[in-house]
Amino acid sequence: MEEQTSASPDYPGEIDYLELDTIIEEQFGGDKENLIMILQEIQKRYNYLPQATLTYLAAKIDIPISTIFGVGTFYSTFSLEPRGKHIISVCLGTACHVRGAEKVRERLQESLNIKDGQTTEDMLFTLESVRCLGCCSLGPVVRVDDDIHGRITSDMTGTILKSYN
Ligand code: FES
Repeated sequence: MEEQTSASPDYPGEIDYLELDTIIEEQFGGDKENLIMILQEIQKRYNYLPQATLTYLAAKIDIPISTIFGVGTFYSTFSLEPRGKHIISVCLGTACHVRGAEKVRERLQESLNIKDGQTTEDMLFTLESVRCLGCCSLGPVVRVDDDIHGRITSDMTGTILKSYN
């Protein structure tokens, strides 16, 4: 069977290979046992797993690229597609849904001119819906990166978006 060698688009900017070496070797000892943690760090840096970083990593820790793609596709926390600088997660779980989460999502889609799961052309925002963010009493809830915005209405989304650039 032919080995999968390409599954993720190139990063539009420059890959910092010195930084990548620091992550792989200094932080994680170049140890293939630490593959998931290394991938988490790469994703934290680029917001997804760019093809070039995975190819480099495969050679560096001597692991088949197909294994790396396998891990990247198995865990839903990893993305092989480019994502925006800020990740907006709109909760559509029951508690948020009954308090108007769908209207909030619709307004965000209109304002950003993207659909659920897409990224704005300027790569600033990715919009995703999720099932529960674990703070149901604050519903409707929207999380932007690590910030939780609770009890929001569709009219509040503009102000929230403006605070991220
Ligand atoms: S249902 Fe929205 S935070 Fe739980």
